[in-house]
Amino acid sequence: MRDKSTGRGLVVLILAAGQGTRMESVKPKVLHPMGGYPMLFYLLRLANALKPQGIGVVVGHMADEVQTGVEENIKKWGINRPITFIRQKQSLGSGHAVVESVSFLKKFQTALIYCGDTPLLTFETIFSLLKAHQEQKSQATLLSAKLNNPKGYGRIVRSPMGDVLKIVEESETSGKEASILEVNSGVYCFEVSWLLESLKSLTPKGMRREYYLTDMVEALRSKGCRVLTQLSGNPEEILGVNSKIQMSQVERILNRRVLERLMLSGVTVVDPTHTYVDSDVEVGQDSVIYPGTILKGRTKVGKLCTVGPFVYLEDTVVGNESEIKMASCLVESRVLDKSVVGPFAHLRPASVVGPKAKIGNFTEIKASRIGFGSKVPHLSYVGDADIAEEVNIGAGTITCNFDGTEKHKTIIGPKAFIGSNVNLVAPVRIGRGAKVGAGSTITEDVPEDSLAIARSRQVVKSFGKKSK
Ligand code: UD1
Ligand code: CA
Repeated sequence: MRDKSTGRGLVVLILAAGQGTRMESVKPKVLHPMGGYPMLFYLLRLANALKPQGIGVVVGHMADEVQTGVEENIKKWGINRPITFIRQKQSLGSGHAVVESVSFLKKFQTALIYCGDTPLLTFETIFSLLKAHQEQKSQATLLSAKLNNPKGYGRIVRSPMGDVLKIVEESETSGKEASILEVNSGVYCFEVSWLLESLKSLTPKGMRREYYLTDMVEALRSKGCRVLTQLSGNPEEILGVNSKIQMSQVERILNRRVLERLMLSGVTVVDPTHTYVDSDVEVGQDSVIYPGTILKGRTKVGKLCTVGPFVYLEDTVVGNESEIKMASCLVESRVLDKSVVGPFAHLRPASVVGPKAKIGNFTEIKASRIGFGSKVPHLSYVGDADIAEEVNIGAGTITCNFDGTEKHKTIIGPKAFIGSNVNLVAPVRIGRGAKVGAGSTITEDVPEDSLAIARSRQVVKSFGKKSK
């Protein structure tokens, strides 16, 4: 957004310098993950979507960690607007955080300021707040919400005529103020010139001698400015994360939003209260997700699949019409179309399975390709292997890929048949159509269309006396 008359436009300022004391954590609050991303990601993505001329992030407590946490991921997160980090050297409150940003803010016309701990805010709400601010030409417009339980939030105090007089923090409320249900969301639009002018009049308050940004309302009003509010149509959007309890509440809402998006696009979620899906996961039409399933990171599941119950997929891609059965764990893997994995299977990173392949119970696959129509149905370990199409691997077969120092490859040609309980000591190659007898320990390559048996012959000895 740009003001055509001045050429100066919108800036978004995100306050993320607070100590987050109530989180009782050694990690910076805004980097706590939820829905697969750090909390701050949601606020940055929102800022970016508004196409402002600048984005400022005020950092202070654990500033280096927060700044690096953002900088390392900006590209991955698709943030393309320039971000300026502003250091708040002392945690002296939200108002002080803005004071420290003055030299950055003064390059812009309108400042949208919000907290780094309200990840549920939506583009629609913020866009309409900005629109109202511009249309009504007020010096400040803030987003408020009516909560049944306003505990912990600043209360909006109005005159009998309904004008906003001030915001009172909970610790400062007196008389009936604590029972006011309309609260401050921590989202504000300011005309920068007026903001800078009035910041000077903030004074420290409370036990911790903090400068409250919320006092700007009174300060602006005392200068005769117009301060308006926009009531959020969806109060849950403004939920702030101050503690791990609130974090779990926000996480639940993020999860519900994702599940609703999936269900509206034709995915069957059998029990949405027991299904956990990260924000950007994709699932195709008519796939069914059973309870206890966790889909994380950049996971993508195709159409007509069934997943679960109790399946964990992380950064994993599943094609169409595949089945990931109960209690399987797949990480950074690919399962191609019409394949079956599990129950109780473990696919470790860089595994590619299918199409039409089967990985059965108590089988672990690591950094291996299991080709078209091939089967590893029971109790096997396959690591660093390249298994071509239509291969059958018998129960209990192990690729011995590690010699104590290095990893080695096992290569199995098309249509090979590996009997049960075989050790394939890598590096080793099994030719097309070859067969390996059950119980063999294979240390040398097996040529095409041949049978290898590497076990001692059965010995039968007589006891010398008859049993009755
Ligand atoms: C704040 C508001 C409250 C509002 C609520 C909405 C103030 C004084 N109060 O309360 O009216 O209802 O948010 O969620 O603003 N921060 C800094 N530097 C600091 C202190 C805080 O950058 O020195 C940042 C924090 O990182 C946070 C934001 O400011 O993102 C708000 O601080 P927080 O302590 O969470 O304030 P609340 O008590 O939630
Ligand atoms: Ca807060």
